[in-house]
Amino acid sequence: MIVLGIESSCDETGAAIVKNGREVLANVVASSLKFHSKYGGVVPEIASRMQLESVAGVYSEAIKTAGIKPEQIDLVSLTVKPGLPGSLLVGISFAKALALSLDKPLLGINHIYSHIYANFLCHRNIKLPGIGLVVSGGHTSLFYIKDFSAIREIGSTRDDACGEAFDKVAKILGAGYPGGPLIERLAKRGNKEKIRLACCGTSDELDFSFSGIKTAVLYYLKGRKVNLELKQDLAACFQESAVDALIKKSLLACRREKIKQLLIGGGVAANNRFRSKLETSAREAGIRCFFPCMELCMDNAAMVAGLAYQLYKKGARDDLYLNMQSN
Ligand code: KG4
Ligand code: ZN
Repeated sequence: MIVLGIESSCDETGAAIVKNGREVLANVVASSLKFHSKYGGVVPEIASRMQLESVAGVYSEAIKTAGIKPEQIDLVSLTVKPGLPGSLLVGISFAKALALSLDKPLLGINHIYSHIYANFLCHRNIKLPGIGLVVSGGHTSLFYIKDFSAIREIGSTRDDACGEAFDKVAKILGAGYPGGPLIERLAKRGNKEKIRLACCGTSDELDFSFSGIKTAVLYYLKGRKVNLELKQDLAACFQESAVDALIKKSLLACRREKIKQLLIGGGVAANNRFRSKLETSAREAGIRCFFPCMELCMDNAAMVAGLAYQLYKKGARDDLYLNMQSN
């Protein structure tokens, strides 16, 4: 079964062709990132205007790369939530028009769940149930995944998302946008033991809080002479605390739910310190931990098409009344 995926929840426009939920025949992503950099974050109006301009081209390139004809698509899938309303609307309008003109079924997908599904495009040996952790720019949540039609949230951030905290700390340090990779680069040369920083506690142990640590970085800088060494140390200390919070809570979720498989997804999953530290801690705890391959950590449409295949097989269907939901 050939599934087309369309992803347009934030600043990326993606189109992908995936066969039988596993084989990625094409995965094309156009990003408007460089147009947002000078504002220090995504400007929704710029994102949706760029998506409007690029969605048809991205789709055509995916068809060409996959070497198929549009009529060979068996299912049109797209991200319906959560995301920026204007951005989601572009993907939905395009996908609906395509499904109508090709006379193919349509299926809307939850972006957060598709981040977890990215693991199934990179690994063959995952067996559900599992615990899922989605760490992106907009979300930080833990899930109990019985299967992809039965996902239960068991923890989430009470304030900022983890990726958002990376972005904000990078802004405070004058490092630029997006903050995750820039903090990671700074942190490589920093001393992670130099400054005491910690993520705030939460009343439910499976919840997260990242806004306090971001403010702590801001206050730490007040009245100090800021040089590269200080920025590197702060980046290293912040990254270490954020990563430790993610690891501690994910392993706790596995213990509480008596689950031995952990699936990570979302942009922060690209962080190398997070990947290596969690792999070590999970191994020690007897838990198998999976990360998507690097190119599938960020927003992409292959993960949308892959998840759509699984849900369609289980009977999920949408019609042309399908609409976007911003959260
Ligand atoms: O999943 P994603 O591409 O988009 C959303 O759904 O939000 O995640 C983007 C987020 C940004 O906040 C970005 O700073 C963060 O992922 N990110 C990272 C790294 N690469 C991207 N955070 C930490 N370390 C990284 N290497
Ligand atoms: Zn995302």
